[in-house]
Amino acid sequence: MALDHRIVLAGPADVAGFRREARQLLAQQVPPQQVAWVAGQTSARAPGDTASLWDEPAEPAAVTASAPPDAPAAPASGPDAPAVRVPAAFVELCNQVLLHREPGRFALMYRLLWRLVHEPALRHDPLDADRLKAAELAAAVRRDIHKMRAFVRFRPVGDDRHVAWFEPDHHIVEANAPFFMRRFAQMRWAILTPERCVEWDGEQLHFQPGADRASAPPADAGEQLWLTYYQHIFNPARLKLAMMVREMPRRYWHNLPEAALIAPLAASAAARSEAMIEAPATPARSTRTLRIQRVEAPQPGEAPRTLEALKAATNACTACPIGALATQAVCGEGPVGAQHMLVGEQPGDQEDLAGRPFVGPAGQLLDGALRELGWPRHQVYLANAVKHFKYELRGKRRLHKTAGQREAQACGQWLAHEIDLVQPQALVALGATAARALLGREVTIGRERGRWLHERADGRPVFVTLHPSALLRQPESARAAAYEGWLEDLRRCRDVAFVPSSAATATPD
Ligand code: URA
Repeated sequence: MALDHRIVLAGPADVAGFRREARQLLAQQVPPQQVAWVAGQTSARAPGDTASLWDEPAEPAAVTASAPPDAPAAPASGPDAPAVRVPAAFVELCNQVLLHREPGRFALMYRLLWRLVHEPALRHDPLDADRLKAAELAAAVRRDIHKMRAFVRFRPVGDDRHVAWFEPDHHIVEANAPFFMRRFAQMRWAILTPERCVEWDGEQLHFQPGADRASAPPADAGEQLWLTYYQHIFNPARLKLAMMVREMPRRYWHNLPEAALIAPLAASAAARSEAMIEAPATPARSTRTLRIQRVEAPQPGEAPRTLEALKAATNACTACPIGALATQAVCGEGPVGAQHMLVGEQPGDQEDLAGRPFVGPAGQLLDGALRELGWPRHQVYLANAVKHFKYELRGKRRLHKTAGQREAQACGQWLAHEIDLVQPQALVALGATAARALLGREVTIGRERGRWLHERADGRPVFVTLHPSALLRQPESARAAAYEGWLEDLRRCRDVAFVPSSAATATPD
């Protein structure tokens, strides 16, 4: 099909231009296959240009087209083409995706907008390939925004100006500038990047074309102070180099003055740790100090008495090697006494960083499913069979590796303690690793899913179903059906009335 509509945007982050053009294209009933999007070289967010494509957020669920799909093409009506009503979350998604460097981002978002209007079922299909792609791009942009906030280092120039050099992955400078404006409102500063620069003069933000690294100022005396401070707060006993590199990727190091200290501090970490262990304990100064101290892990062999102690114990666990590479242990979350405990396999990349279960793509799918069932996430307790993220480094990426029997077994004690502490009435195994951990035997999900199994010594029934990641791996043609089947499983296990677990013979069927 011919690309009859060539839309040239003012710049790579021209979100306002995209909104305007998309609104007109939609009003003219131009299908996405007929549009070629071209991003110009300079960004063009005019001051105060906050025009909204969708005339700001509609009710979350309402998607109404300005014209029905089979209506005759409406003429373009200039900048005032009728507003389109889309879910508020789509507006947010669009604002993030359009900042990605991916050349196809404008086409993707116009296609999604078109489909939202013409395919109402799209809203109920979290596994749709376009939706997944958009979510992936948005996550990368959010990460980049976060890294810029964490790694910009200002250096003073002249009397009261500060300048920083930064190299973002995506077109985020304009979107991120208000954060720095609020944070450093009293200071005059500029952030230089290869593509775009931003300056705050104390009253207004000004955007300019990209700069050269050589324009960034050299180190200063204040930086020396910061280095001394960094040296002092560096705790050798807590050094996890892999995690540090993960959080502070090496490509940012040349802009971080403290990075020069990492190698020598890391090299001396083992010796300093030993010295710390050998040193006599420092007496506590007051009861207040004691109260805010970290929760200590229980002694080996001792059962943790609280979920905080469980967290401390799993963090200190060395029963298998994967903990050494993880950022932290990820225990479950949810109410003590929850009726259902849902158990997954192990934290993924995002869970490992956040320290919370099910916050990455699989978690979002699970959240969506629970929402669809009217079963709020905060009513269930979400846990994992294995408490540390197991991965393999491929370049800079940490690729999930399925936990082996050894790791699952080593972690079995922690899951057992967690069940004891939470006292759920029923257990739901998401996937084979969880099922095996809860039932103590191999489980074939295809054969045993969708029913309650009564095999546990503590009397708690176990319901087996798919892990959300299994749905994410399905070929597109099979996803919708697989998702429906999974929802049905979850609905069945939710809708069961239990007798309290103190009656160890609960029979929920
Ligand atoms: N997959 C899991 O099994 N658990 C999580 O917490 C996240 C992804």
